[in-house]
Amino acid sequence: MPRRLAAGNWKMNGTRGNLSELDALMARHPAPSVDLLLCPPATLVTQAADRVAGHPMFIGAQDCHPAPSGAHTGDLSAAMLADAGAGAVILGHSERRENHHETNALVCDKVMAAQAAGLIALACIGETLEQREGGQTLQVIAEQIAQSLPDGATPENTVIAYEPVWAIGTGLTPEIGQIAEVHDFLRQALSDRFGSGNGNGFRLLYGGSVKPANAAEIFGVDNVDGALVGGASLRADDFSPIIDALENT
Ligand code: PGA
Repeated sequence: MPRRLAAGNWKMNGTRGNLSELDALMARHPAPSVDLLLCPPATLVTQAADRVAGHPMFIGAQDCHPAPSGAHTGDLSAAMLADAGAGAVILGHSERRENHHETNALVCDKVMAAQAAGLIALACIGETLEQREGGQTLQVIAEQIAQSLPDGATPENTVIAYEPVWAIGTGLTPEIGQIAEVHDFLRQALSDRFGSGNGNGFRLLYGGSVKPANAAEIFGVDNVDGALVGGASLRADDFSPIIDALENT
């Protein structure tokens, strides 16, 4: 079984004062049996990475530009993020796909850029409510997997997060059977494309309104290897019980 991963996405939240949440997490989880990743805004990556030095928790960013350098005002390259202390980067989050019109092809280029810089790419996929209600969920997922992941994706350099768009920040979560259906489908699609050895090794995270109250049930689903947690990762008091659930389920 892949080593499980609890990943936090602070989105556009947090200033230096919030880094004390990392201290609280490290104090509560001095020797975690799962991997811990926290993705603060880019402004905090270096300070967060310095703060967790010596602890197994690692720090990620939330986006990168596909090019290694150049005239791209306001953007950050994967190599810059690695230099700042990041070990991973979230790519293709639905908020970026929607707010910044990111396509599968662009996400794929970003995943390759992350891998070239030695970062783990945390590639996000997921259907909208309209797509789910139209019975298109698995087709959308298949397309996103086919087009957002490069041929060079491996379980070591890539993590996949299934995040139904309608479940993000809404308090809504799919039924357990719906999560299971997509994660089983994902496992099969990855095995078909990358071979069963690799396919079985990819970590498949669920994301979208994961909370202390629903974490254990979600982590009990086959082929769910962890979570990408937004709102509930902002405070150690909320994120810590989710980590406990992942360790104990
Ligand atoms: P949420 O966000 O946990 O606040 O729903 C998840 C995400 O967007 O990664």
